[in-house]
Amino acid sequence: MNTGQEPRVVSGLEGVLACGSSVCFIDGPAGTLLYRGYEIGDFVEEAAFLDVAWLLWHGDWPTAAESARFAAAVTAHRALPPAVAEYLAGAPMATANPMAVVRTAVSMLGADDPSADDLSAAAVTAKATALLGLLPTVVAAMSRLTRFQEPVAPDPDLDHAANFGYMLTGQRPAARAAHALNAALNTYAEHELNASTFAARTTVGTLSDYYSAVVSAIGAVKGSLHGGAVDDAMGVFAEIGAPEGVAGFAAAALEARRKVPGFGHRVYRTRDPRAAAMDRLAGELGAAAGEPEWHDIATGLERELKERKGLNANVDYYSALVLHHLGFPLKMFTSFIVTSRVAGWTAHILEQYADNRLIRPRSLYQGPAARPYPPD
Ligand SMILES: CC(C)(COP(=O)(O)OP(=O)(O)OC[C@H]1O[C@@H](n2cnc3c(N)ncnc32)[C@H](O)[C@@H]1OP(=O)(O)O)[C@@H](O)C(=O)NCCC(=O)NCCS
Repeated sequence: MNTGQEPRVVSGLEGVLACGSSVCFIDGPAGTLLYRGYEIGDFVEEAAFLDVAWLLWHGDWPTAAESARFAAAVTAHRALPPAVAEYLAGAPMATANPMAVVRTAVSMLGADDPSADDLSAAAVTAKATALLGLLPTVVAAMSRLTRFQEPVAPDPDLDHAANFGYMLTGQRPAARAAHALNAALNTYAEHELNASTFAARTTVGTLSDYYSAVVSAIGAVKGSLHGGAVDDAMGVFAEIGAPEGVAGFAAAALEARRKVPGFGHRVYRTRDPRAAAMDRLAGELGAAAGEPEWHDIATGLERELKERKGLNANVDYYSALVLHHLGFPLKMFTSFIVTSRVAGWTAHILEQYADNRLIRPRSLYQGPAARPYPPD
């Protein structure tokens, strides 16, 4: 089609509206985030994560009966299938990127599911329900294996977040820890058309299967510009080491034009609204653990980078501290995101299947003009 306009590449697809969606709304300039019309700050510390997953999949909160039935269905899928348990036990946890291990585990589940290619909403919802139950077990087992500890079997008497904490540490978590873990799950559950969700939608847009979409999404969220930043943020706090080191670190980072993990965002022009609860909970958990210096480092660096360059903290910044205080080993933080974001990926996958059109953009050709073969 000739529009008379010079063809132009939109770098990074910034601002491009690639699909319609009813799942999530972000107002970047105002710094607000709504799941299905509900503002994140109103429910992040109040709602149970599984109710949030239901909200994302079905469009509104479950009734008490739906909530109980859904929690029971998810809980029934916590146990590791033997093939996955065997794979994890032999996985090279000392050298592998944990995200590669999670990605492989999900891929194995797809290969072992004879109904993997059933793309109906009922089948996809059933697979997602099972994955919601299983992924915390996978990530908790991996976390323990990296520390040369035996995996801990799930406890059916504990709710989703408390059981996750239990499988991670081997101890029933204190109420404060279970509350923070649930809030972290809610925080990461959904975020519109971020790179991993776009990858998932692109994959099912070809009428490929649910597992393939989740594997695509895990591959995308692994990167350091996306979910990988949560591990990197903790690395920065460790590099700074003490609150006195903040000013020097900030000056050197800005001088070197270093991208500091946990700052900046493609859409928000304010502080990420998801940072508020994580900031508060990181402070509380750090104080309770007798390690307040981590939060002092974080608040100090946030202040410095805001004042000196107008940079805003994003979700990964304070979440890194929350996950550290909850007992996740460094390098496992991004895998935690998978246990939560699978809820949002699924909502978008269901939406894409329900009104699908192949996602197939174009590139602006910049190579050589047509030329004879064989060359002279
Ligand atoms: C998230 C991110 C990839 C968004 O990228 P983007 O929309 O392409 O934005 P840009 O990289 O073009 O950044 C715009 C400006 O802000 C600066 N900036 C953005 N994020 C920055 C960061 N984390 N540290 C330092 N400067 C940053 C850039 O240097 C650039 O400044 P300039 O105009 O003076 O060159 C980017 O902010 C980033 O790399 N952040 C760190 C990784 C991270 O935390 N990711 C998780 C996101 S939830």
